[in-house]
Amino acid sequence: MTWLCAVVFAVAVSFTGAAVNLTSPEVFNPIFYMSTNVEVLRHGIRNTSSAEQHWLHHGMDMGLMACGSFHSAQYLRRYPDLEKAYGLHGYRQAVEHYLTTGLHEHRLGYLEGGYAGHWTVSDAKHRIFLGAAARMGASVVSLVWNNYEFINSWDHGRELQMAMNFLPHGGCYNPTEAGGQADSQKSITKTHIQSVHASGNTLTTKVLPAFWFRAAHPVTGDGRRCHNGKSAMNTVDTYRYPFSKKVTLECPGVTQPCLHFWSSFTIAGDIPSWTTLQMEAPTGYLTGDFTVFRSYDHSSGHLVAYNHVKPMVVSTPDDRYAMGIFSSPKQDTDQYMYYGKFQFPNRFKYVGAATNKWNVVFRKHTLPANSTHVFNYDTYMCVGSVHDVTACMKSLLHAHQSELIG
Ligand SMILES: *[C@@H]1O[C@H](CO)[C@@H](O)[C@H](O)[C@H]1NC(C)=O
Ligand SMILES: *[C@@H]1O[C@H](CO)[C@@H](O)[C@H](O)[C@H]1NC(C)=O
Ligand SMILES: *[C@@H]1O[C@H](CO)[C@@H](O)[C@H](O)[C@H]1NC(C)=O
Repeated sequence: MTWLCAVVFAVAVSFTGAAVNLTSPEVFNPIFYMSTNVEVLRHGIRNTSSAEQHWLHHGMDMGLMACGSFHSAQYLRRYPDLEKAYGLHGYRQAVEHYLTTGLHEHRLGYLEGGYAGHWTVSDAKHRIFLGAAARMGASVVSLVWNNYEFINSWDHGRELQMAMNFLPHGGCYNPTEAGGQADSQKSITKTHIQSVHASGNTLTTKVLPAFWFRAAHPVTGDGRRCHNGKSAMNTVDTYRYPFSKKVTLECPGVTQPCLHFWSSFTIAGDIPSWTTLQMEAPTGYLTGDFTVFRSYDHSSGHLVAYNHVKPMVVSTPDDRYAMGIFSSPKQDTDQYMYYGKFQFPNRFKYVGAATNKWNVVFRKHTLPANSTHVFNYDTYMCVGSVHDVTACMKSLLHAHQSELIG
């Protein structure tokens, strides 16, 4: 008995004695914390320092998820020895254990198969983690590599997700995987999740996506999203046909960290007459840090100025974090596929709102009315430093040599 107490005491001392930084990026990312936890936003927390204070004094003890690669509540459930030592609510001890011991033991900070509306998959060898949230229609809300978050998930129009629109209607008829504009910072989405499967390094989902605008919502002063100030043309809030995806954290022919994103769009039902269907397969909204857009030139193996028909590399200015995007141009499209770039500054006076968006767009012209069409696309994303991503793009394009044009 005395011996047991001594051991417990020693462990506690080693925890308090060790200089554990409870806001280090292995366990806490202020932007992820604010975007993910609706209760934190409700408390009016909108900047990094107040997010940090909230995490240290409330969130950690509440067992909130504070970054995409670790969650105390899931960590305790994943490892019976930890649950036994700290109980299911020993969240603070779980955080401390992960930082002092768990990381070194290569333990993983999430529960296989999903937990409380959040699903995580990983390529543990490369320390890359991908997360999807029920609140965002099971779209990808987090991608962490080297303890760094790539994805902006501030509202339902961001994430790494699929969307489509029908010109000339643009945003007026715009099924969006993660949810609608009015879902905003709410804990719900008008997207209906039909199935989610998260296992190992693979996430598979099927949803009926929300329309970006609620049925017949009058759109004024937002011509950028919904052309000519019209009303939304959808008569229901949720599109009746599925968007499916399968995301795997490995790409054929590539040894670097890489995502293979397979997307499937169903076009059916009574769609207002249109001229061009545009599918984002997919689009990635990265954090405000990813301000540099370049293209990868396969013939020279170098990065060049952004060119919308060449594979793209988006990075932070210091080249430490980058994403390279490649999709074969020889997939089903009536016009060349292209890579788009968009930069949205911080419109909400909120540190997490600034975002940098890329998309891979495939287009189809008018299809016979009231018939069903399914379009599937494969897109690959290299992840790492600019140096790693350039090497990854080289291997990736080499593996897809026969699908390149020209
Ligand atoms: C803890 O980590 C954060 C994030 O890396 C850093 O900004 C902060 O200075 C660290 N705090 C201490 C006390 O070392
Ligand atoms: C952060 O937000 C709090 C309110 O939550 C405010 O009091 C504080 O001044 C803000 N800090 C900065 C640096 O803007
Ligand atoms: C398509 O179906 C809708 C209702 O199911 C019908 O009102 C419409 O006339 C049909 N359109 C065509 C071109 O057949």
